[in-house]
Formats: sequence, C-alpha cells, structure tokens
Amino acid sequence: MRYVWSSRQIHLPLQQIPSTHPCNNMKKVTSGYAKLDEWVAIWRETLPHYFGYPFNEVSPLRDFYEWYYAAGINLMNLNNAGDPFTDTPWEVSSQVFEREVIEFFAPRYDFDDNNRWGLVTHSGSDGNNHGIYFGANYLKHRTGKAPILYVSDEAHYSNMRLAHLQDLETRLVKSDTMGRMIPEELERQLDTSRPALVVYACGSTFKGAIDDMPALNAVLRRHPELPAVYRHVDAALFGGYLPFTEHAHLVSSKKMGFESIAVSGHKFFGIDSPCGLFICTREVYDNQSDFDVPYLNKNMRMINCSRDPIQPLKYWWVVQKVGAEEWARQARRIMELTAYLKQQLDKAGYPAWVNEYSNTVFMRCPSAELAHKYQLAQNDDPRFGGKLAHVVVMQHFTEPAIDAFVAELCSEQKIAR
Ligand SMILES: Cc1ncc(COP(=O)(O)O)c(C=O)c1O
Repeated sequence: MRYVWSSRQIHLPLQQIPSTHPCNNMKKVTSGYAKLDEWVAIWRETLPHYFGYPFNEVSPLRDFYEWYYAAGINLMNLNNAGDPFTDTPWEVSSQVFEREVIEFFAPRYDFDDNNRWGLVTHSGSDGNNHGIYFGANYLKHRTGKAPILYVSDEAHYSNMRLAHLQDLETRLVKSDTMGRMIPEELERQLDTSRPALVVYACGSTFKGAIDDMPALNAVLRRHPELPAVYRHVDAALFGGYLPFTEHAHLVSSKKMGFESIAVSGHKFFGIDSPCGLFICTREVYDNQSDFDVPYLNKNMRMINCSRDPIQPLKYWWVVQKVGAEEWARQARRIMELTAYLKQQLDKAGYPAWVNEYSNTVFMRCPSAELAHKYQLAQNDDPRFGGKLAHVVVMQHFTEPAIDAFVAELCSEQKIAR
C-alpha cells in the first residue's frame, strides 16, 4: 500500500503552537506501518525534554510544507549542482534562492557585497570542509607551500577529521579550562616557515567557548615571517544567533579578521534536517583551482557535485517568514533563559558553568536516568571534577520546563530547596 502523507494532518498552523512543546498537541496519525508509528510515539515523548543538543524544536517551516505539497515540489527531482553565483543558474535547481540566502546572510558576517561568495551546505561539518579545503588551496595557491592547520583541543571533532581527510599536518592547540584556545600555546606551536590555516571555534561544542580571535590574531601578526595566514570560523550554533544580538561584532569577518565562516541551518534557524551556510571572501574563491566542467556552469570549485535543492528553499522561506527582527527576539529570549537556568542552578548550589555570550550551560553530570530523560550530552573534564553534562538552551525552552528540570535534579541529588 502506498501511503501519502498529508501535511494538513500533521502540522498545526503557527498560532496554535502550544506554549510548551509543538509536538504535544499534534493529531495522532497512523502510517499503516507499526514500526513507523512506534518511532513517532517515541520522539513525541522525548522531544519535550530535548535539552542536550543545539536544535531549535519550534519549527518555522509549518506552512512551507503546505506550499511544498500544494506546488508539487515533492514530485520533482531537482538538483543544485553548480555554482549559485554564476549568471546562468540551472533552471532545474533552486540556485537563485540559494544565492539570495547567501546575499542576505553575508552582510550579517560583515562580508562586502563585492567581496563575498558562498553556498548553502549540507551541514556545519560540510561548511567546515569547505573552509578547510578552500583555506588550504588558497594558501598553497599564494605561497606554493602546504599549510599547517591549528585548531583548539575543544573544537568540534569535524575539524580534526577533515584535516585528516585532507592530509593536512595538524597541531592541536591547548585550550583553557573554559574551552578557549590559549594564545601563548598557539604561539608555541607556530611553525613560521609554513602558511598557517587556523580554525577558530565560535561556540565550542561542549562548553560553548568562543576563541579570543583578536588575541589569537595578534599572535599571528607578531610573526610577519609567516608566508600567509587563513582563518576559518566554525560557528555552527553561535553563528546563528550572534548576528542578531548586540554582540554581532564577534562574527564580523572584518572585526575578527577571518576569511570564511560555517554555520548550521538546523540549529538556531530550526530547519528540520541538516544544512548550513558557508561564506567566504570572493578573493578566497578566486584563489581556488578550477575544474572546467562545461555542463555545470563551467568552473566547479566547491566540493560536492549534486547539492540539495530543498534546503536552500527552506532557508529562503525562513528568511522571509521569520527574519532578522524575530531572530533578534529569539536570541534575546534564549540568552534570558540561559541566565535563568544558570541562576536556578546557582540557587540550588548545583555546580554549573557558562561562558560569556553562550547558551550552553555545562554542569556536574546528573544520574544516567536523568541525563537520558533530558538527552544531555556528556563529557569528562578532571579540571571540573570529572563527568560533566550540558544543556543547550534553544527556542523551545520555557521557565516552567527549566524549573521542572532543576527540581528533578535537586530531588535526585537530595538538594533541599
Ligand atoms: C562547534 C560545532 N561545529 C560543528 C558542528 C557540526 O555541525 P553539523 O552537525 O551541522 O555538521 C557542531 C555540531 O554540534 C558544533 O557544535
């Protein structure tokens, strides 16, 4: 039997979203497959307590799917292969929308209109892949020498994996207790005879640390003998909300002095499956090697051939439907709720820490049961007494949900309140 989902059955209009969690009030539908229905029941139960991963669970895409099915886009097989910035985008692609997405976001990271290039990626990791690949090519192109990659030991593992994949000599730079790369350690590790490809973390995965880019850039400037420098910023989560706050300078390519940035689309922006942004200067793009592919807009500098056409449409949709003002409100709200969570943990005397500008509160790890119920990501750091867990405060959080979590934590730890 072929079952056709009706978007109307499974999505509520925006004004009906319950204040707790969007999946609470959804109608139950059956697929005709018990295994699928059980899976849906499990995620509906789990999502209201989804505290440990940086996903915005308040979908901005409800009416996107209404349109998607009504227009029959689900019946088409589109593909964004090729460069979204050529003058002849492929008709059976959504590249014109992809380009508009990049044009909307590039100024948010302070790239000039006449010196920017980018694409909608398959994920934050794919954005890092482009940053590291473009950086290495740029440096080789300019100096004829292979670069060394420097990245902090608290940065996301994709950076180390991608450096390995690209066979780049890599130096892991020590971070301080709060997770920031230590400038003196970068200097100690620097080989000034080779170009430096530096990856900065703007929101490290576990502790939510932002590398001190001005201090690290000062280290690089102290060594004019370096043949060349390229800085890529991994801003998977923080690159979503920071541009819409008073701290936007932290993701400004000019003020922080970086050449490229990668951001995830499924984190702050709430796109419902992995995607992201990669943006770099046009100069970087122009210093890549060409592959002349006449049937694909001629020169292919990016890594992937086939690229998802639907994610750029979703990104374009959220730019229109949500937009900068609402993202600024959401950013303020998650900052307020992060402060609220930290305050409640402090009041209870529960050991917890949070970096400046961060929505990630890390704490002594609770019981395995509680960590599982709230899907808390875990880590180890002997400097904080051993096992840690973190909560990433996103748009679906509320004060009552935080209160319930803290109450459970205190009750199991026998903390009187
Ligand atoms: C700092 C950082 N960079 C990169 C990534 C990977 O992003 P994605 O899951 O979009 O590939 C993550 C994921 O959590 C992250 O926290």
